[in-house]
Amino acid sequence: MNRRVVIDTDPGLDDAVAILFALACGRFDVLGLTTVAGNIGLERTSANAGGLLAVMERGDIPVVSGAATAMLRDNIDAIVVHGADGLRGITLPPPLAPVQTDAVAWLAETLLAAPSGSIDILALGPLTNIGHLVSAFPEAAGRIGQLIVMGGAIAEPGNSGPASEFNFAADPEAVALVLRSDIRTTIVPLDVTRRLRADRAYIEALRGSKAGDLVADILTAYLVDGKQSRPLHDPCVMLLALAPELFEIEVLRLSVNLGDDPDAGALTRTDTGSPVAVAMRVDAERALALLASGFR
Ligand code: RIB
Ligand code: CA
Repeated sequence: MNRRVVIDTDPGLDDAVAILFALACGRFDVLGLTTVAGNIGLERTSANAGGLLAVMERGDIPVVSGAATAMLRDNIDAIVVHGADGLRGITLPPPLAPVQTDAVAWLAETLLAAPSGSIDILALGPLTNIGHLVSAFPEAAGRIGQLIVMGGAIAEPGNSGPASEFNFAADPEAVALVLRSDIRTTIVPLDVTRRLRADRAYIEALRGSKAGDLVADILTAYLVDGKQSRPLHDPCVMLLALAPELFEIEVLRLSVNLGDDPDAGALTRTDTGSPVAVAMRVDAERALALLASGFR
């Protein structure tokens, strides 16, 4: 039975791999892509999301754009990693359908129209859209089956500030709203995602299908030293959704730094923090094999 999912995303090279895997593996019913400003601005993340659907000939799946800015802060970006176009020069066809607007209202309508708990949200970027959903449509947010989030760092150094991870640093207030909500949430932090990287042999072995060829091109653009890719952050969300047994999950009480210092968005374990499931370890070999299997 395929899981019905909405992917909230800021594509972004690793988002693109995660989205193509979800579309190609045949194990998800993707109801829509909601987009958010993150790696690059909202216009680009939305165009990239539409381009990925066009490659897969999935014009039936809507792209619904959401937040162009964080809830309370100036935007940060990750252009240094993803390039100004968000895909390091990889060109995609134009979207098959116009990008819709108001992702938060669309999420609320979609969740309220479906049986409670029947739709999961796979969150690959800053949590701004989800934060607005929790704030403006708490009844709809309460109908989310599970929310799996790429974000945060527990024992790992950050990739935005010394201890803060990019998605959470981009909108700490949204993280706080989500952690304090009663949505069944699992966080996949840098402690796990940094264990998944692709080398050249792995990348070339993905080729042989439309999605596999594009993912191989994307991962080649995502190589950090010519030998290994940067961490496969966002694909870990889809892999956990499909095979949670590949991950070791702990429930931690977490608080998020809402200050104005370089570690805004950083997580700390506190007795008064919100209890949330956190993937702390992964069987990287089996996770990489599962990822590759999605493109065969
Ligand atoms: O810290 C990694 C996260 O930030 C990933 O989701 C990547 O796409 C960027 O959004
Ligand atoms: Ca992302």
